[in-house]
Amino acid sequence: MNKTMTLRSTLRLSALGLAATAALVTGVARAGEVEVLHWWTSGGEAKAAQALAATMKAKGHTWKDFAVAGGGGDSAMTVLKSRVVSGNPPAAAQIKGPSIQEWAREGVLTNLDDVAGPEHWDQLLPPQIAAGLKYKGHYVAAPVNVHRVNWLWVNTAVFKKAGIKPPTTWAEFFTAAEALKKAGVIPLAHGGQSWQDFTTFEDVALGVGGSAFYKKALVQLDPTALKSDTMKEVLTTFKKIKGYTDKNAPGRDWNLATAMVIRGEAGMQLMGDWAKGEFLAAGKTPGKDFECVASPGTAKDFSYNVDSLAMFQLKNPANAKAQRDLASALMSPDFQELFNLNKGSIPVRLNMPMDKFDACAKQSSKDFVESSKGGTLVPSIAHGMAVPSAVEGAIKDVVSQFWNSDKATVDDTMTKLVAAAKAQ
Ligand code: GAL
Repeated sequence: MNKTMTLRSTLRLSALGLAATAALVTGVARAGEVEVLHWWTSGGEAKAAQALAATMKAKGHTWKDFAVAGGGGDSAMTVLKSRVVSGNPPAAAQIKGPSIQEWAREGVLTNLDDVAGPEHWDQLLPPQIAAGLKYKGHYVAAPVNVHRVNWLWVNTAVFKKAGIKPPTTWAEFFTAAEALKKAGVIPLAHGGQSWQDFTTFEDVALGVGGSAFYKKALVQLDPTALKSDTMKEVLTTFKKIKGYTDKNAPGRDWNLATAMVIRGEAGMQLMGDWAKGEFLAAGKTPGKDFECVASPGTAKDFSYNVDSLAMFQLKNPANAKAQRDLASALMSPDFQELFNLNKGSIPVRLNMPMDKFDACAKQSSKDFVESSKGGTLVPSIAHGMAVPSAVEGAIKDVVSQFWNSDKATVDDTMTKLVAAAKAQ
């Protein structure tokens, strides 16, 4: 064997060797760890989170799950703050709406344009949702879904036995609730936590006042709307609902309330379609075991809640690479389908085939498109889609005080709402 040959082949071999080693190194380098902080701990939520973990493992990365129990995410946000302050942020965290910009302003989030650009997120997302994921025009978070919040879940058999139909107006709701009470069933399963109280409140505001009033009062926080006759009717209707919940409701987690409807102990629940994830995880079928109807008076409206993962700046290049792979995976058609089939929501990515989804999801997808065209698409306040987190917390407290206290009057509450809307 001649030397030159050997040198060239050695070089080539070494080049090959180098490439292989480089591949190995980068391979090793490519396999990183992604730690995700979230609050998806209920049956249906956990199944969806597992779909995400599996997706990342399939890419050769290590999934580090940092789940903080507590629906609505208040506890998770408290834990996240302490981790970031102590200089130990996760790779990604479930952060939504204006909170994304609040965190970005702190300079701790990373720019995802190197993924979002080449993958055309601006073309794949509804514009108002894409805008909410950016800071100063740069993507800093990746969306996973669109939840509809204004749903009423009904136990089919309980309603049949009581001889009633799912209500479409608040008047029908109270008639149905009376019939359920007579039938010895808890009319409305509710969890007495401020985000759940406010979820019910915003459903009533949308159903009684309509989307124009909702936007004026709860998004623009207009003092005139917050102290209007319509708000009086909203608060009066809201308080009347409480009479159809049970004495054990205070502090109850949302998924335990859903379980009461699943078991037929209660007839109805007002909750976003993460509740559907619980029905599905319990092997229940829409249209057979349970019904999904728009919360009373809101069939033409859609209040949305988009879950997203905001990405923190990372020092370790392998983990930063894994983080990019996470962002890309979240928006991929396969993951968008798998996650949302389990989570109860619909894909946020436009033009996704819905053939594998059930009737509730198909309805949600159709109503999302129509409401965004018709101007009746509104952001959920209870789920952090519209107002600064300080204001969100303050108006939630006022509404829960009114729900829980027999002394709080409608007039006092309206005055307090106007004050809370100025919270910094
Ligand atoms: C929401 C979140 C949903 C669901 C719900 C109940 O804030 O966006 O994904 O988890 O809380 O925990």
